[in-house]
Amino acid sequence: MSETQPEIALPELEPATAESLPVIEFSEVAKTFGSGERAFTAIKDVNFNVPDHPNRGEFVAILGPSGCGKSTILRLIAGLKPQFPATSGSIKVFGEEILSAGADRGMVFQDYTSFDHLTVLQNIAFGLGIRGDDKGASAASAREWIGKVGLNPDTDADKYPHQLSGGMRQRVAIARSLILHPRIILMDEPFGALDPPTRFSMQDQLISLWREQQSTVFFITHSIEEAVYLGDRLLIVSPSPGKILHDMEVPPPDRPAASMQREHEFMDKVFEIRDLVEGLERQAQAAQADE
Ligand SMILES: Nc1ncnc2c1ncn2[C@@H]1O[C@H](COP(=O)(O)OP(=O)(O)O)[C@@H](O)[C@H]1O
Ligand SMILES: [Mg+2]
Repeated sequence: MSETQPEIALPELEPATAESLPVIEFSEVAKTFGSGERAFTAIKDVNFNVPDHPNRGEFVAILGPSGCGKSTILRLIAGLKPQFPATSGSIKVFGEEILSAGADRGMVFQDYTSFDHLTVLQNIAFGLGIRGDDKGASAASAREWIGKVGLNPDTDADKYPHQLSGGMRQRVAIARSLILHPRIILMDEPFGALDPPTRFSMQDQLISLWREQQSTVFFITHSIEEAVYLGDRLLIVSPSPGKILHDMEVPPPDRPAASMQREHEFMDKVFEIRDLVEGLERQAQAAQADE
């Protein structure tokens, strides 16, 4: 765990300038898996855009019942098969249609995706190596990132993933992705498997790293508290075929997770959104029962 309290307060979101292109733009996006009788439409009529706010990216949290298409949306942005490409519609990053995966979009999954046969340092430096960066400089940068995500460069650098707790492994996965400074960070339930104290500390750490990077973050979570705490904006996805039912702004985090998430005002917002999401979950279950 890092010794210092991460810096939490964020600058206000400023409106995008007239000439800037949206970071992401979904227009009439649909994805159907399979064909003929086995065709299944996971998402349909998905429209949203994330403007390019000056000096700070937006933190977009995505909520919705299980199976509604959240991972499909994220993997379409990442350019990962079989979700990518979309069946119809257009997805643009800074005005350009997505053609494949790319280093401008970094992904962090729930199941800790480090290489088992590589050490912490080698895992974190991996992407730099692929990019062809100098070995010495990559190792130095990886050591710095070990510290940035709250691990200890002296004692953790040479450990292998099986020697780490789940929280530590997820710190490695975050460092592996952020060391490449992606303009868009895609996170699919990254803290879903962590216990609450570890989760709070990871939330705070993520906010302080994100401040530094000024990237746009898409963050899927099942935890409404986590979405309301971390997000500038929430997208709530309907049961399948998923589409964006609600697109709302929420106050950004300005205090550490453990204290802000106990406050009345915060809890009121959480209850309001919980009612919405629970309604959708009941709808999804009823639809399943009808099948
Ligand atoms: N490769 C695939 N082939 C067929 N169906 C899929 C595939 N990937 C996802 N689905 C289906 O699409 C729907 C949305 O999936 P997903 O995006 O993973 O949902 P979420 O992340 O919201 O839980 C689910 O019903 C899932 O079973
Ligand atoms: Mg998912």
